[in-house]
Amino acid sequence: MKFFLDTADLTEIEEAASWGALAGVTTNPTLYARIGGKLADFPEHIKRICEITEGPVSAEAVGTTRSEIIAEGRQLAALAPNVVVKIPTMIEGLAATRTLANEGIAVNMTLCFSVPQAILAARSGARYISPFVGRFDDISEDGIEQLSQIVVALSNYDFSDSGVSGQSVEVIAASIRSAQHVTQAALMGADIATVPFNVLKKCVEHPLTTNGLLAFEKDWEKVIQA
Ligand code: E4P
Repeated sequence: MKFFLDTADLTEIEEAASWGALAGVTTNPTLYARIGGKLADFPEHIKRICEITEGPVSAEAVGTTRSEIIAEGRQLAALAPNVVVKIPTMIEGLAATRTLANEGIAVNMTLCFSVPQAILAARSGARYISPFVGRFDDISEDGIEQLSQIVVALSNYDFSDSGVSGQSVEVIAASIRSAQHVTQAALMGADIATVPFNVLKKCVEHPLTTNGLLAFEKDWEKVIQA
């Protein structure tokens, strides 16, 4: 499984990229608003993320009609070669995805909550599909079970003729809230997990690693003193 960072924060992206395991970034309008982003700065901000990131960077179209989404998608894709256009899973989004995929533009279909949505997204040519886990948990439903069903259903079929030529569809486990979600996503075979920076840090940490390190440092002091 690959790790993407789910943020629009440049400092977080630079830091995570320096760890050597970052494979991509996902942003959305909420994440851009959270860092105080302004509309006029959005294209430059996405370009900067694309420079820092060795891998795909999802930038979301906010239009609601297919023509708006297609126009926005083309503009976003022109910002950098590693831009992926993020499009909500809805009728207008599917139509826009088909047009953009036919033009060779990679699309990440987001806000995906069901197996039928995921299959339609794959058939419309999406390069990535983002089932949301945490938002199911927020309404007391099992987001990991939903993700698992989508992973299995997609693996039952061959979508290689549906999308951009030569590129298969990949599942991005999104709306991830914990390292436990990451574990479960990996065990069920999700291709990618996109995680907030605080969750990525928790994925690196383990209390036994911390305690073991302290013990090694303490014992090495004895060696130095001997
Ligand atoms: C997906 O790419 C979204 O940006 C994200 O994972 C949404 O997560 P949230 O439910 O924490 O907002």
